[in-house]
Amino acid sequence: MLLPSLFGLDADGLLPDCLRIIATARSEMDDTGFRALAAAALEAAIEVERRTPALVARFMARLSYVAIDASKTEGFAALAAAVGDPGHLAIFLSTAPSLFGPTIAGLASAGLAGPGARLALEKPLGSDLASSRLINDAVAAAYPEDRTFRIDHYLGKETVQNLLALRFGNSLFEPLWNANGIDHVQISIAETVGLEGRSDYYDGMGALRDMVQNHMLQLLALVAMEPPARFDPTSVRDEKVKVLRSLRPIDRSTVEDHSVRGQYGAGAIAGQPVRAYADELGRTSSTETFVALKAHVDNWRWKGVPFYLRTGKRLPERMSEIIIQFRPPAHSIFGDVELKPNKLIISLQPDENIGLTIMAKTPGLDRDGLKLRNVSLDIGSNDAFADVRRRIAYERLLLDLIEGKQTLFVRRDEVEAQWTWIDAIRAGWAATGMTPKTYAAGNWGPSAAIALTERDGVSWHD
Ligand code: BG6
Repeated sequence: MLLPSLFGLDADGLLPDCLRIIATARSEMDDTGFRALAAAALEAAIEVERRTPALVARFMARLSYVAIDASKTEGFAALAAAVGDPGHLAIFLSTAPSLFGPTIAGLASAGLAGPGARLALEKPLGSDLASSRLINDAVAAAYPEDRTFRIDHYLGKETVQNLLALRFGNSLFEPLWNANGIDHVQISIAETVGLEGRSDYYDGMGALRDMVQNHMLQLLALVAMEPPARFDPTSVRDEKVKVLRSLRPIDRSTVEDHSVRGQYGAGAIAGQPVRAYADELGRTSSTETFVALKAHVDNWRWKGVPFYLRTGKRLPERMSEIIIQFRPPAHSIFGDVELKPNKLIISLQPDENIGLTIMAKTPGLDRDGLKLRNVSLDIGSNDAFADVRRRIAYERLLLDLIEGKQTLFVRRDEVEAQWTWIDAIRAGWAATGMTPKTYAAGNWGPSAAIALTERDGVSWHD
C-alpha cells in the first residue's frame, strides 16, 4: 500500500520535487534491488495506464535503501548520513511492536528526532493498555505528540471522512442523531480472507484487538461524537476521545451477554472450499477470528441506544458498513400498512455509498387502500463523483503526514481509551472461560451472533 500510494501522489504532482524516499529494513539490499522490489509493488497495485515510463522513472529516482538492524543503535548513523539535513523529515514505522523502542532510540541517537522530524506509527501499537503505554512513552521521549502520527488506515477512507460531512455538513440528520431519533447503530466489517500468512501476528491478536480496538472504535467514535467546534486536529480528537471514554465497560458480569467470539472452521467462500483456521495455523488455538459486541455509549445523547459491532474473517462477503436505524414514526395514519423505520446505510466497502431508506407511495389507484414501499435514496459515489479518481486510503494519510496535518491520526489518549475498553472485555473472557465458538467459513459467524441482536428484536443488516 505504501509505495503505490506514494507513487499515486507523485504521479499527480503532489510531492515536492526535492522529496526523497529512503527505505530501511534488515535485509541486505542495494538501491537497485529496492527499486526492483518497488517496481513489482507498483505493477501489482497500479493500473498500467497510470504507470507511464516517465512517471515510474521519476518515482524510482526518489528511492534509495539503507539496511539497518533496528535492534542496534549503531546502524542508524548510516541512515542519518543518507538523510542528510533532517530539517524536513517524515518517518514511517511499520515494525513489530518490540522494535518501536529500539528504533526510536536509534533514530534519536542519530539526530533524526529534531524539531523537523515527524514520526508515523503503523499498528499494532501494543497488545494491551500496558504495552501500548510503553510504546507511547518511548515515542514521547523522542517525539512530542504534535509530531506523532498514529495511523488508523480506516481514517484515510473516503466514506469514513464523509461521515463527518454527512453529519456536520447537513442540517437534516443532526436533530435526530440521538437517543430520541435513533433506535440502534450497527457497524460491520466483514472479510472473506483468512489468515493470509500472518499467523505470527494474527494468532497473538485475534479479531477484537486486530479490528475492534482500532478501526471499529474509530468508526463508532465518529458516529457518536458531539459536533466539534472546528475541523481541526484538537477539536475533532477531543470529541472522539470523550466518546471512547464514555463506552460502558463490558466486563466479567456482562461479557457473556454482550459479546460473542467465533473461530472459523472449514467451509466454502465463493464456492471454493477453504480450510479451518486451526488447519491454516497448523495447531489448535483459542484466538477469535470473529467477534460481535453490544456496546453502549453512556452519555446524554446515546442513553439506551445499543451499538452492535461485528467483524470477522472468512465471512460470506467483503463488506464494511454502518447502519443508523432510526425510530419508527410516532403514529401511523395508514391503518395496518407496515411502516419501516428509516435507515441510513453508510457503505465503506466494497462500494462507497450512502443510502437512506424512506417509505414512498407505490404508484396506483389505491382502490384497496394506499400501498407504501420502502425505497432507498442513494448517493453512490461512483455516480455522484464519477469525475473524481478514488485513492488508496494511505495516499491521503501519507500526504497529511508530509504536510503535518494531524486530524486523521489517532492521539495517545484515544488509543489508551480504546485499549482500556478492550482490556476489560479480554479480562471478562478470561474470567468466564469464554472461548470462541466455531462457525463454518462462509457464514456470518456463530449463531450466537444472531442471537445477540435478535434478543433485542434487531436483525443484522446482511
Ligand atoms: C488491518 C487488519 O488493520 O485491516 C487486517 O490487520 C484486515 O487483519 C485489514 O484485513 C482490513 O483493512 P481493509 O482496508 O481491507 O478493510
